[in-house]
Formats: sequence, structure tokens, C-alpha cells
Amino acid sequence: MEDKIKALHELMESSLSKVKDKSELSDFWQTYFSKKGKISELMKGLGKVSKEERPAVGKIINDFKVSAKARYREVEQILEKKELELRNKAETIDITLPAKKREKGCLHPITLVKNQMIDVFAGMGFEIFEGPEIEDESHNFTRLNVPENHPARDMQDTFYVADGILLRTHTSPGQIRVMDTEKPPIKVLVPGRVFRSDSDATHSPMFHQMEGLVIDRKITLCDLQGMLDKFVRNIFGESVRTRLRPSYFPFTEPSVEVDVSCFECGGKGCNLCKQTGWIEVLGGGIVHPKVLENGGIDPNEYSGLAFGIGIERIAMLKYGINNIGLFFENDLRFLSQFRD
Ligand code: PHE
Repeated sequence: MEDKIKALHELMESSLSKVKDKSELSDFWQTYFSKKGKISELMKGLGKVSKEERPAVGKIINDFKVSAKARYREVEQILEKKELELRNKAETIDITLPAKKREKGCLHPITLVKNQMIDVFAGMGFEIFEGPEIEDESHNFTRLNVPENHPARDMQDTFYVADGILLRTHTSPGQIRVMDTEKPPIKVLVPGRVFRSDSDATHSPMFHQMEGLVIDRKITLCDLQGMLDKFVRNIFGESVRTRLRPSYFPFTEPSVEVDVSCFECGGKGCNLCKQTGWIEVLGGGIVHPKVLENGGIDPNEYSGLAFGIGIERIAMLKYGINNIGLFFENDLRFLSQFRD
């Protein structure tokens, strides 16, 4: 029995010295210390030892077991230390290396200009209202006094999604939606996307507009010009002036086209203003009495002004951009030039 233990001791030492990692160590545990392992086997052999010798042999086996476990723990600790060292080496961070630069994002130029526009009008007491991008003919045309046979209703200009349902061609249906829910005095801005089947250097099938609507007693064209004067000065500089030219929109009467004096040449005439000294920036007018009626507002008591500003148009003029497509290509070389 003693010889057997000695042989096992040697075998254990040699196999333990070959253990290279934790999985081999756990194999070793199975071989020696598990229920069916070599040490249990020795214990079972104790039955065959004579009664007199049994306590002494039992002690030898037990001593062997204790020393074997101690050796096992030793090797386990060495392995753990080795593993930790390896891991630390692999995870070393060189704190002297330059840090990775995190790129800061910026707002899209259309958002920047939109926010600036909202700021100016918010300063005059306007509130923001948003309407749906998918509209019906009634809000987009009929209630805005756009006659049944008006060319704007033509399939050429309007994207229809179903019978009588379309992608709004302007933010003006917002006027109707506000009148349906609010009572005068009304002073709202309706920013949003609009859609038209039109595409060239200055037109895109999707673009942005900012609608303005003011309804109160005794609203006149002077109020319109005053507000727009303030607006263009904020965007293009304090020295610019506005000029109203007669125009036509079915939902305003009178209707005007608003020009701003050329901020490039000061009005003398240059390429930007095509030698006229003036640049067209937006459309507006006095809300047509029929539109007020369609919105449930008495035109004998109230009058209103409305305007529609193309946000891309303002951004192109402000930044000197000549191709509207640049706004939607999402080329970072273009977009990152508009950091605040
Ligand atoms: N809705 C018009 C357009 O898209 C602009 C406009 C708005 C004109 C409000 C007058 C009043 O061209």
C-alpha cells in the first residue's frame, strides 16, 4: 500500500508539473480528487488492509491527500498569476499616445436658417404650428380658394398619393388648420417640408417653407411689410430694405412679391441681383376674405396677412449657394462648412 502511494505521489507530481493552463488543471482535479479519482480509489482499497494496520495506512492516505491538495492549490495560484500577467500585458494602454479625436456634429444649414427665421418671428410673438405633410385637396387647394381648374392642381406640379390625397405643395394648408382650431387674434408660423414635381438647379421635388399667418382687427399690408422688413434685416444685414410688387395668389388679395435690396452691391446692380438692385425673396399678401370665411372667421370683423418663405431660397442667398441639390446630397465636405 505504501509503495502504491509513493508511486501515485510521483505520478501526481509529474503530471502536475505538466499542467499548463486552467483546463488542464481541472482535468488533473478530476483524475485525482473526484469521487471516481485515484485518491478515492486508494480509500476504497483501505477495506482490504488488516484491522491493525488500517489506522496507520488511513493516516498515510490522508496525509497524502492533504499534501496533494496543497500542491494543487500552489499550482492553481501560479497559473492564475500567469494568466493575470498575460491579460495585463494584452490590455496595456499607452497613455502617452495622442487621444482619438471625436468629431463634433453640427446642424444642417437648412435647420440653421430655419431656426434663425423662427427666432426673428418668435421675437414678434409668433407661435409655431405644424401640419401634416400628406394633405387632402380641400386643405391644400379648395379652402384656400384655388379654383378647380387652376394649373397648380395639375398632376405636373402635385404629387398625388390617392384620389384627392396629395403631398402638400405648400405650407398654406396650415392656415386653414389653424383657423379651424384657433380664434383670432392669430399669429402663427408653419414651418415644414413641401413637395412639387419640379427639379433643376434652384428647384427640388422636396423643399422647405415657412408660412406666416396673422389675423386680427385692422391688419394691413403695412403690418406685413413691417414684419418682413425686420425679418430680412436680421437675415441679410441691417442695411437692406424691402419692396412690395403686385402679384397673384388665389388665397391673398392683394397679393405681393417681396423683394429685398441687393445685399451684395447695395442696390447699384451686380450679377447676384441681375443688375436690378433687387432680389425676390418671398410671396405674401392680405388673406382673401373667402379664405377667412372658409376658416369660420368673419371678414367684416377681421383681416389677416399671410406670407410664405422658401427656406432653401433664403439659405442659398445667405450663403451664396447656387445649386439646391447640395442641401440634400449629404456630402459632409459641404455640410461641415456651416458650423455655428
Ligand atoms: N403658398 C405660396 C407658395 O407656395 C406662398 C404664399 C403663402 C403666398 C402665403 C401668399 C401667402 O408659393
